[in-house]
Amino acid sequence: MNNNPIGVYDSGLGGLSVWRELRRALPDESLTYLGDGKNCPYGSRPREEVRLLADDAVASLLAEGCKMVVVACNTATAAAIDFLREKYPSVPIVGLEPAVKPACLETRSGVVGVLATERSLDGEPFRRTAARYGSGIEVITAPGRGFVELVEQSREDTPEAEACVRAAVGEMLDRGADRIVLGCTHYPFLRHVIERVIGDRDVRIVDSSAAVARRTGQLLDRFALRAAEGHKPEYRFLTFADDVYAERLRRKAFE
Ligand code: DGL
Repeated sequence: MNNNPIGVYDSGLGGLSVWRELRRALPDESLTYLGDGKNCPYGSRPREEVRLLADDAVASLLAEGCKMVVVACNTATAAAIDFLREKYPSVPIVGLEPAVKPACLETRSGVVGVLATERSLDGEPFRRTAARYGSGIEVITAPGRGFVELVEQSREDTPEAEACVRAAVGEMLDRGADRIVLGCTHYPFLRHVIERVIGDRDVRIVDSSAAVARRTGQLLDRFALRAAEGHKPEYRFLTFADDVYAERLRRKAFE
């Protein structure tokens, strides 16, 4: 048993989509969220740079006493997960990757669309899973251009947001995709816009947060790290940006 917090890390606000699911699924657990904010977006930065940022973030969370870390960022996972697990072998670290597996297993049209950042799409975890489960399936990928900025600047409900979403998913829909994978933790905050663009087509949106929360629970059990039953959780919000950003993280988490 261990009442220390779980660390949750993202380039910015996006990982809060995972944070919310963790809070719902693991209500006794304290959560310390680190949203970089200063270096966001990560999506087209060189891999080495993202790896250094991820290392700083995980080191900060461990210095805050976190018992495990969820890298709630597909981009940081793609760039750094092996490095982090090697560097911090005694800490369970959960990574995120686009939920290509369930989408490929469930598609009926045989066409799956994957939205993610450039770095995630050219990263090892996505390529490996797509190669493993995507045989015989047409997997169409597209970076969600502008999506992260829209979420970071609270511009989700603007005509520009709808135009960006249309530009990214239009072709997937035209080519018959019936599953759209949200391969970046910022994208669930645009879910309502994506649904609007999908309209009445029979298309499902697939995201990984619930699976990540389940995986986190399994690791807590495996390493005997669960908080005591009925433990009153504490929620903290850290950033490499400033206090105003930390306050935004807190507000968005509980929105
Ligand atoms: N939210 C992140 C992800 O899941 C990164 C977005 C970014 O900073 O570009 O990929």
